[in-house]
Amino acid sequence: MAKIDVMITEEEISKRVNELAGMISKDFSGQDVHLICILKGSIFFTAELAKRIENEVTLDFMSVSSYGDGTESSGRIKIVKDIDEGIEGKNVIVVEDIIDSGRTLSFLLDMLKARKPKELKLCTLLNKPDRRVVDIPVDYIGFDIPDKFVVGYGMDYAQKYRALPYIGVVSEL
Ligand code: IMP
Ligand code: MG
Repeated sequence: MAKIDVMITEEEISKRVNELAGMISKDFSGQDVHLICILKGSIFFTAELAKRIENEVTLDFMSVSSYGDGTESSGRIKIVKDIDEGIEGKNVIVVEDIIDSGRTLSFLLDMLKARKPKELKLCTLLNKPDRRVVDIPVDYIGFDIPDKFVVGYGMDYAQKYRALPYIGVVSEL
């Protein structure tokens, strides 16, 4: 197993997810919210968030892939699995693991907007502001992090380390 340096502990993540769920519950007070989990990276985040939101929550899942070279997304995005249910008239929150260049989300938001949701918000656990290429509005951010490649809590390096309960940086492969 590679050496992983902890960047954000399990406790810190849990505390922040509680805070984000509190903000969402308040912003959508008395209304239903429909979470769209972007697979696979945001599975744990979506699950923990959904449990803590006080409103009626429904869930759907989408899987996208970028035609990039592995660590860099190209902006040409392919829908591998679309959501199962329509979103017209719903309070939709797209839940992402991390926003890097912003290309993936920019493409996705345009596509989802065309399906006429009542609200379309974006919630990401991590944000790398230094790497942004496309300007997108992010409504809920867990943590701003420096330009380092992170793994754990759903995020992978070559499909490994997703199941780590904390977020870390791979220092030795
Ligand atoms: P973007 O289109 O450049 O914003 O890329 C966002 C996607 O790239 C995320 O949803 C992740 O799947 C992946 N990604 C970007 N940075 C990292 C990282 O540090 N660790 C793991 N995956 C990352
Ligand atoms: Mg992702």
